[in-house]
Amino acid sequence: MTGKVYLVGSGPGDPELLTVKARRLLDEADVVLHDKLPGPEIIESVPEERRIDVGKRAHGDRTPQSEINERLVELARDGKTVVRLKGGDAFVFGRGGEEMLYLADHEVPFEVVPGVTSAVAAPGVAGIPATHREHASSVSFVTGHEDPAKEESAVNWEALAATEGTIVVLMGVTRLPDYTAALREAGMDPETPVALVERATRSGQTVATGTLDTIVERRDEVGIEPPAVTVIGGVAGIREEVVRWLDE
Ligand SMILES: C[S@@+](CC[C@H](N)C(=O)[O-])C[C@H]1O[C@@H](n2cnc3c(N)ncnc32)[C@H](O)[C@@H]1O
Repeated sequence: MTGKVYLVGSGPGDPELLTVKARRLLDEADVVLHDKLPGPEIIESVPEERRIDVGKRAHGDRTPQSEINERLVELARDGKTVVRLKGGDAFVFGRGGEEMLYLADHEVPFEVVPGVTSAVAAPGVAGIPATHREHASSVSFVTGHEDPAKEESAVNWEALAATEGTIVVLMGVTRLPDYTAALREAGMDPETPVALVERATRSGQTVATGTLDTIVERRDEVGIEPPAVTVIGGVAGIREEVVRWLDE
C-alpha cells in the first residue's frame, strides 16, 4: 500500500501560527522532511527519530530538489505517512508546486495543507496591512533573489511600479539596493514608504523603516538580515500610526 505525502506550510515561525491540521499531522506522521525555515521551535517539536533535515547537506550545500522529490516518493512507496514541512506556505516561493507535480507524475497520493505565508504575516505583525482602501488595492509577491539588471529578468520591476499597489519582496535583503533603484528608475516616488521585517513572529523580530531612497541605509543601520520581507508602498507608512500598540 502506498502511503501519502502531506505538503504542509508551517507558517512564519511562531508555533501558535501552525494550523491545527499541521500540528495534528506533525504529531501523527511516520516521517517529517523539513529544512531550516520552519524554525527550531516547530522542528524540535517533532521527535528526532521521526524527522529528516533535507535542507543543507553535511558539507554545506543544498540538497538538490531532485533528491528531495525522490525521497518523498520512496518513503510513500514504503507505505509511510510523510509530512513535507515548509516555512510559511508551501506554494509561495516554497517549491511545493514542483514537489506536487513530481508526486502526481509518480502516482503518489498527496494533500496540500496551506500555511500562513510570511508574505502577509510579516507585514501584518509589523502593523502593515497588505492592502488598504486608501493606499493599495493590489498586492504583488516578488522574489528579490535575482539580479534586476540581468537580461530577461523574471521580475518586471517597471510593470510592478506601475501597479501602484503594495509590493512584498521575499528573499530580498541582499539585492535591496538593486531593486529599489530599479523601482525609482521606473518612476516610483522616492518618498514611497518601505519597511523591512526580519524574523517575523519569532524571537528577535526586527523592523526597519524608511523610504525607497533611504531604506538601504536603514537596513545597514538596523542590521537587518535574512529571513526578512520588504514591503514597498503606502501601506508601509501605516505602521507609524500603530507602532506604540504593537507587541515588539
Ligand atoms: C524560500 S522563501 C519561502 C517563503 C515561504 N514559503 C512563505 O510562504 O513564507 C524564504 C523567504 O521567506 C521570507 N520569510 C520566511 N519566514 C519569514 C519570517 N518569519 N520573517 C520574515 N521573512 C520571512 C523571507 O523573505 C525569506 O527569505
